[in-house]
Amino acid sequence: MMKLRLCSLHYGVCANIWRRPVSHYCSNSKSIISSSSIEVKPKLPLYLRPPSFSTSLSELTKWHKWAKNLASSVGSSFVHLDNGPDSTLLQRELNWLLEDLLEVQHHSRVLPLLKSDSNENADVAVALRVPLEDLYCAWRQRIEERRPFQYVVGCEHWRDLVLSVQEGVLIPRPETEIIIDLVEDVALKNNPKLAQGLWADLGTGSGAIAIATARTLATRAHGRVIATDLSPVAVAVAAFNVQRYGLQDLIEVRKGSWFEPLKDVEGKLAGLLSNPPYIPSGDISGLQAEVGQHEPKLALDGGIAGTNDLLHLIDGAASMLGPGGFFAFETNGEKQCKFLVDYIEKNKPDSFCNIKIVPDFAGIQRFVMGFHQ
Ligand SMILES: C[S@@+](CC[C@H](N)C(=O)[O-])C[C@H]1O[C@@H](n2cnc3c(N)ncnc32)[C@H](O)[C@@H]1O
Repeated sequence: MMKLRLCSLHYGVCANIWRRPVSHYCSNSKSIISSSSIEVKPKLPLYLRPPSFSTSLSELTKWHKWAKNLASSVGSSFVHLDNGPDSTLLQRELNWLLEDLLEVQHHSRVLPLLKSDSNENADVAVALRVPLEDLYCAWRQRIEERRPFQYVVGCEHWRDLVLSVQEGVLIPRPETEIIIDLVEDVALKNNPKLAQGLWADLGTGSGAIAIATARTLATRAHGRVIATDLSPVAVAVAAFNVQRYGLQDLIEVRKGSWFEPLKDVEGKLAGLLSNPPYIPSGDISGLQAEVGQHEPKLALDGGIAGTNDLLHLIDGAASMLGPGGFFAFETNGEKQCKFLVDYIEKNKPDSFCNIKIVPDFAGIQRFVMGFHQ
């Protein structure tokens, strides 16, 4: 069953996307992080936690009414403030929260009862994945502190994946999914041999790009992926997601700044992918509260023009990629794309070919891609 789920778009505007069905995961304790000590403990998404808590239907109904009222009280005030969610979207999130909270086999029995005014089943016990008190706290944080819904439920639906996310890790955005389409429809179509090679996802965050790329490569050949990030939380969460999908033999997660952890594979990469921080520093304070106040600055701030990290990536791409290697980078859109292409044409005319700008779902020029000569 497909479900609607809220997702922030371009770090500012809320949009609805299709929520994907939940899939099953493998778990394996083999370590895949080749770096120094990682102390971060990734959190299990709400829908995967055991239903070890119990409450009565009447207590859950009381909470649900309170939560609905709190969502309604928002009206369109957040929209006016910073293009945040309105009460309709918040009500939808409340439904998703309930779905993640209860075991799937109890949805059809419990969810309609919550909406009825009958007292008939008031004493029926309901199994929850978190204590009822925590639900009051979680919904208050969602509304009053504007904590992103994805951090509340601990996951985000992205392509056919359900990725664990938590504070300190960027929530993957729908437009970034296009990078995987570029890998499939441009890079591998143009040169199928690239599917046998080594790819890198720099600034991997939750591991979204690395995991989706590894799955794509695995359907064609025996390519592998190195996922890197400077943030210890991102490294731990990416490794957790890699393990949940049983991809630890295909993806290695490394901690470090951009190309620094990739010295051993210089000139050998078949593909280089990145969605780096690209928001101009001066724009951070104007972002939707869910983004600007809760998502990591390290994932957002790209310096004065937003292009510091993008330029660094372009500069390194020529020496990191092997002959015919592919690169695709996400940008803040339009101006940044044009700036990067001009930069490549002026400074690296002999390094790359077939440079193209690619639009996102909204038609905004969003990605720069090309091939190493
Ligand atoms: C916009 S987020 C993208 C996360 C993920 N790839 C995605 O698309 O959802 C940028 C990522 O780059 C990481 N980052 C920032 N500076 C970095 C650096 N110097 N070296 C490596 N990663 C860095 C951040 O921690 C963050 O995870």
